[in-house]
Amino acid sequence: MFALRTSSHVTLLCDHALRGGDRKACGRVGSVKSRMHLNSIVSNSSSVGGDSWTQSLSKMPLHMNVVAAGADLDTVFSGCLFDRLLEMEMNQDNMQRKPVRLIAAACNNLGIGKDGKVPWNLPCEFQYFMSTITRVSRPGKMNMMVWGKQCWFSHPKTSFPMANMMHVVLSTKLDTVPDHAHFLCQDFESAVRLAAQPPLADLIDTVWVVGGTRVYKDALKHPWCDLVYLTHVMADFDCDVFFPEFDRGLFKLQERFPDVPSGIQEENGIKYKCQVFKREMSDAV
Ligand SMILES: NC(=O)c1ccc[n+]([C@@H]2O[C@H](COP(=O)([O-])OP(=O)(O)OC[C@H]3O[C@@H](n4cnc5c(N)ncnc54)[C@H](OP(=O)(O)O)[C@@H]3O)[C@@H](O)[C@H]2O)c1
Repeated sequence: MFALRTSSHVTLLCDHALRGGDRKACGRVGSVKSRMHLNSIVSNSSSVGGDSWTQSLSKMPLHMNVVAAGADLDTVFSGCLFDRLLEMEMNQDNMQRKPVRLIAAACNNLGIGKDGKVPWNLPCEFQYFMSTITRVSRPGKMNMMVWGKQCWFSHPKTSFPMANMMHVVLSTKLDTVPDHAHFLCQDFESAVRLAAQPPLADLIDTVWVVGGTRVYKDALKHPWCDLVYLTHVMADFDCDVFFPEFDRGLFKLQERFPDVPSGIQEENGIKYKCQVFKREMSDAV
């Protein structure tokens, strides 16, 4: 796992350090306080692979707000993505606007969770959620899923890997990218910028926000937020986490919406409606 953290120094956490030419995981490299220190670690470590890697690292900016996961290590250091990370650093305003969309299922009092779990079992609704978030405009494109830390760790890992998906976990306390995730960001805006700037901008279609409460709140305030997919679970459940109240004059309930089942559905004796609220604003995507 490779991490570049924002600050006046670079912290290099390399759980999947490069071994010779074969780029296999071989353990943690260490923490780097300056570019000189970084170069010295790289050039003194036989476990870290190759001249090209050393050269790449020597070009590394010292304040990059990106954490890249081990799964993408080869891509990160294949040259192309690394160069584009540098380009991103140099060209902060080169942003491609991306639709930011929320998706949730909430019961009568807007409850969405209890004890770290979703309090109902609606497999077809979950399938609808999966097919909605993994849909892309054309083959090769991907979406970005933004998760709060609790949601990430409470979600069953059996759904990974997910088709067409880059996962960003938000946390101010974690310092390594969780297993199966691709990026770690310290705030919502950083996640959106990650999707909107090189190297990911040409790849990402949509930023899907999957909770919890604070992430939903941040997303609702974001100027690029255009749609809220909110399934109304038409029942009372005891919940300790809630979907935030939002302005239903600004986000208007759509009577019908493409790829969204209309009418009342029922599963396991629980009725629910798949609803979409669209932001009626001139600056909506
Ligand atoms: N029904 C549904 O559709 C649905 C959807 C989503 C979630 N849920 C349920 O909701 C519950 C989890 O939600 P939750 O609100 O308790 O927790 P959460 O948002 O998943 O996690 C909270 C933690 O995530 C980090 N975080 C959240 N927003 C952040 C931000 N904007 N910037 C930086 N870090 C941020 C913080 O971690 P640090 O403390 O490390 O900074 C925070 O303590 C679970 O019960 C889950 O099942 C249900």
